[in-house]
Amino acid sequence: MTNGGTNRGSWNSNIGFVLAAAGSAIGLGNLWKFPYIVGRHGGAAFVVVYLIMIVVLGFPFILAETALGRHARTNMVDAYTTVRRGWGFVGVFNFLASFFLLSYYGVLGGWVLNYLWQFIKGGVESGSAEQYFAGFTASTLPPILWMAVFIALYAVIVSHGITKGIERFSNFAMPLLLIMMIVVGIRSVTLPGAAEGLSFYLKPDFSKINLSTIGVATSQAFYSLSLGMGAIITYGSYVKRDANIVRMSAAIPILDTIVALLAGFVILPAVFSFGYDPQQGPGLIFVTLPAVFARMKFGAFFGALFFVLVLFAAVTSAISLLENLLDVVGEKCRLSRGKTVLLLAPIMFVSGLPSSLAFGPMQGFTLFGMNFFDLMDFAVSHVLLPISSFFLCIFVGYVWRPRNAVREITSHGRYRFVLSGVWTALIAVVLPAVILGITIHSFWTVGG
Ligand code: TRP
Repeated sequence: MTNGGTNRGSWNSNIGFVLAAAGSAIGLGNLWKFPYIVGRHGGAAFVVVYLIMIVVLGFPFILAETALGRHARTNMVDAYTTVRRGWGFVGVFNFLASFFLLSYYGVLGGWVLNYLWQFIKGGVESGSAEQYFAGFTASTLPPILWMAVFIALYAVIVSHGITKGIERFSNFAMPLLLIMMIVVGIRSVTLPGAAEGLSFYLKPDFSKINLSTIGVATSQAFYSLSLGMGAIITYGSYVKRDANIVRMSAAIPILDTIVALLAGFVILPAVFSFGYDPQQGPGLIFVTLPAVFARMKFGAFFGALFFVLVLFAAVTSAISLLENLLDVVGEKCRLSRGKTVLLLAPIMFVSGLPSSLAFGPMQGFTLFGMNFFDLMDFAVSHVLLPISSFFLCIFVGYVWRPRNAVREITSHGRYRFVLSGVWTALIAVVLPAVILGITIHSFWTVGG
């Protein structure tokens, strides 16, 4: 496909949209973030709140983004201005959120590549997995070099265009990831002492739920579904006019949630079995997985295969983020796809450096008790994401108007959308109110 207004490509098939959007949604948010957040915020009860948020807030929001994208058929900034001039600022928030997320996503992608390399070389010593992780992330050059490799990887794929590059890539990586997770999950739940982890993960203790848990669950739901960053608007803009948006959009949260829940089964029983601290945060999967693979026959082989698939999941999300930025920059500056990638890739590298150094040389730099990496994650998940989602709801609810959105969702009456009344109430009233409440609360308690 080429950039530039009317000449946008479209997906070869409807399943192309579903798989690419699922590829965007399924990423390190599911595999890396979900298990450690569940670990930090009370286990099963958190999972219950998370699932409710996916259904009640996430799904209606996906519909809104897909419909807006297809309606406007342009980049995510112009999507707003084609409907009403002066609303491009929401797209700018989407752009900033994507930019900051992609900057530290590269750091994580680099870590994944390093672990993949370690497994190819025979695996990480299980007894010293924690020290290994701390040592690697605290070093200066290796994480930066791996980050550069990761960036080069997703940049090359994006430069090949959406159907040839992205669609083909997602089509085989995602199914394979599911199968591998089931295999490793079975090993994890059958480890000695796994039962304690299973009950932590599955037996809810609702006394652990408070306003912060609800806020964290909501922002994790949005993060995991790639919402509030214009990603689904961008992918929606390539959807054919006669496609059934409701059915297509429903597949995304289902697939995304299956992978997140499976990640919990892979990580949490093992955490308890090996006696790691479930509250330890971002290092959780990197410390736990090597220990699981060390207990498996052909562990190094399975470990390498598993990290290849984690890499796929991370790459498809990074592709979606870059595609998002590229679409705006390319159309605004009238640059070709290849040139835009060449411009953006080095910027992503430089902007990722402080997040990478945050675990080593820049360890001392903290704000509100967070290092630079955590600050970036906080800024994306708890500041930019809620602001841009809030305005998207207001935009759809009061500027574009639910009536028009529903017309797009049903392809002008071609498909039935029985829940259109409920959807309207959710998008125009419930969602903005919940997001506002949560954001005020999280600002109130930041660092506390
Ligand atoms: N959903 C991705 C994940 O789970 C992260 C993400 C959030 C994302 N917003 C995005 C990816 C926008 C692509 C585009 O890892």
